[in-house]
Amino acid sequence: MRDRSQPLPPGSGAGVSRRFALTAGSTAIATLPMLGAARGDNAPSAAMPEKGATMPVSLTVNGRAHRLSVDPRATLLDTLREQLGLTGTKKGCDHGQCGACTVHVDGRRVLSCLTLTAAVRGPVTTIEGIATNGTLHPMQQAFIDHDAFQCGYCTPGQIMSAIACVKEGHAGSAAEIREYMSGNLCRCAAYPHIVAAIQQAKPDIERS
Ligand code: FES
Ligand code: FES
Repeated sequence: MRDRSQPLPPGSGAGVSRRFALTAGSTAIATLPMLGAARGDNAPSAAMPEKGATMPVSLTVNGRAHRLSVDPRATLLDTLREQLGLTGTKKGCDHGQCGACTVHVDGRRVLSCLTLTAAVRGPVTTIEGIATNGTLHPMQQAFIDHDAFQCGYCTPGQIMSAIACVKEGHAGSAAEIREYMSGNLCRCAAYPHIVAAIQQAKPDIERS
């Protein structure tokens, strides 16, 4: 059983656990009206960006550098899909609960729906960036070999999470894989096939 006190549980966002992010977010939201009340007015908090305001960001995605102008509140998921047209990363719940939006930032898996674009530090890798010169990544190939998907909606997130799971050293057994992939939900219940695919791809990834 995984030690739940570890700082990076499966499917976490940018090194911050989902539970922490949700708790912190709830606290922040709950606090905003109280700040206004304390000032005796209904003015928005100074921390709130103006409606329509944008800010410049530099983002490297799949080895390509981008200069973008984004809403300070834009999530990495929306920036990837709506500004860069990288729609391989899927929006499932948009609340950090399904793992469909998993990408890598600086080599670590993060939930892009819980990650602010403006806060991203390090290169981003999405499902579109893992094949090499037209050859599928070993994890992509293993998912095909094991029929590890049905509708395929969760699959990009599953694959990005699975690669990270192996690289983190958390694919030592079927039980460990299930534990460290538990942040990625599959409504088609392809779980046994996903575990088999990860076990197939593991040696190739460890050699690379
Ligand atoms: Fe991000 Fe569901 S869309 S966790
Ligand atoms: Fe359909 Fe996973 S393959 S949700």
